[in-house]
Amino acid sequence: MSKHSDVLVVFGASGDLARKMTFPSLYRLAKRNMLKVPIVGVSFSDWTAADLKAYARKSIREAGVRVEAEVFARMTRGMKFVKGDYSKLETFERVKASIGKAKRPLFYLEIPPSLFQTVVFNLSKVGLTDDARVIIEKPFGHDLASARALNVALLKVLREDQLYRIDHYLGKEPVQDILVWRFGNTMFEPVWNRRYISNVQITMSETVDVADRGSFYDAVGALKDVVQNHMMQVVALLAMEPPVTAAAKCLHDEQNKVFNSMRPIDPKSYVRGQYDGYTKVDGVAKGSRTESYCALRIDIDSWRWEGVPFFLRTGKALATKATEAIVEFRSPPKQLFDHAGCAAPETNRVRFRLGGDAGVSIDVQAKKPGDGMHSEPVSLNVDFAQALGDSPLPYERLLGDALAGESTLFASEQAVEGTWSAIDPILGDVGPIRKYARGSMGPKEAGKLTADYGGWVDPIGVTAK
Ligand code: BG6
Repeated sequence: MSKHSDVLVVFGASGDLARKMTFPSLYRLAKRNMLKVPIVGVSFSDWTAADLKAYARKSIREAGVRVEAEVFARMTRGMKFVKGDYSKLETFERVKASIGKAKRPLFYLEIPPSLFQTVVFNLSKVGLTDDARVIIEKPFGHDLASARALNVALLKVLREDQLYRIDHYLGKEPVQDILVWRFGNTMFEPVWNRRYISNVQITMSETVDVADRGSFYDAVGALKDVVQNHMMQVVALLAMEPPVTAAAKCLHDEQNKVFNSMRPIDPKSYVRGQYDGYTKVDGVAKGSRTESYCALRIDIDSWRWEGVPFFLRTGKALATKATEAIVEFRSPPKQLFDHAGCAAPETNRVRFRLGGDAGVSIDVQAKKPGDGMHSEPVSLNVDFAQALGDSPLPYERLLGDALAGESTLFASEQAVEGTWSAIDPILGDVGPIRKYARGSMGPKEAGKLTADYGGWVDPIGVTAK
């Protein structure tokens, strides 16, 4: 069992991510008595420890949580703040002084990726990396070469087991549930292959547009923002072989095999879109050709998945907020109950709901009451919150794991490189940009990808007002 970290140092502590995610998550950890180390915040802001505490309190409130005095006191006991420029060694001398006798710091880099290397090198120069863990936030490079270069640079002063690459999708309970449903039950695995499954669809649709993130988003686009990381991780969980054990190495090995078996994506199976009005957003370049929507087909060259396409689509300003993975089964070999007057029966589907209304539903056919033998689709549904109770937030889970030295739910370098390799042929300004209306489900051209498989299956979601 790895040793627990003895201090948490947050670089970029006055930033947006810290406000939206980190402090509310740390508060929840403290409430469960799982946060037992002091927090040091570092940033350029002209702040004191009292300012950092006030920021933390505000951010917890903004997350809709009532701040309990005793929990907050525990969370902020020993809280310190270091103001500094990340390019100056004196900042890191001050960080060193602030952590006192701590021997196993966890450094959380909530800073632009262009600063990762500078910060890690400076931490090493002041002798703070030997027993440290370092969390970094995506993007990990912007293509295969830059992802490799980043890794080579970081591994000059760190070991791979010290690096924790956050992909918050892996911290989501319903995403982890894919693994438990597949390998904690016997009934799915025998049919989880090309003999029974016709195609897999993953939809991550958002009703929000790029809002005030124009300049960030325009340099990135949908493919790099969520497909290369979040959605690819979901593909790996759906497609991987059974691991030898649930240990990090075994799971990562199987996930990496999926990435390595992905056929480089054919640009002809890639559709890009941009919602009407995107180029008018603040921070978006005039005439920008960045995609706010994309849809693609992935083929996995393996015995299990030969001939079974994985279709992915994601976008901003769409009709529905939903994240779903749908595994669609083949039709029965003979339609016994396809009677005149009834629509052809829908196929069986396992639908993993990975967003707000987390759960799983399984679509099956049942006998339609009444005369004759007609079938009708019904859905067997599990709502996780109702059936299983409250879940930790993704960042709560991941920060708790990193403090404890548990790396299973973090992306390995091989995974990062594997996913960049798969999308390499469609990186850049590949193919036309199709306009789509806000509040639609994206450009109609995306429909062609799934046309031979009965089209996209609509997600169950909250419809945009
Ligand atoms: C982030 C992307 O990684 O994931 C955002 O940068 C996106 O653009 C977000 O909105 C979606 O996360 P979730 O958990 O709301 O599905």
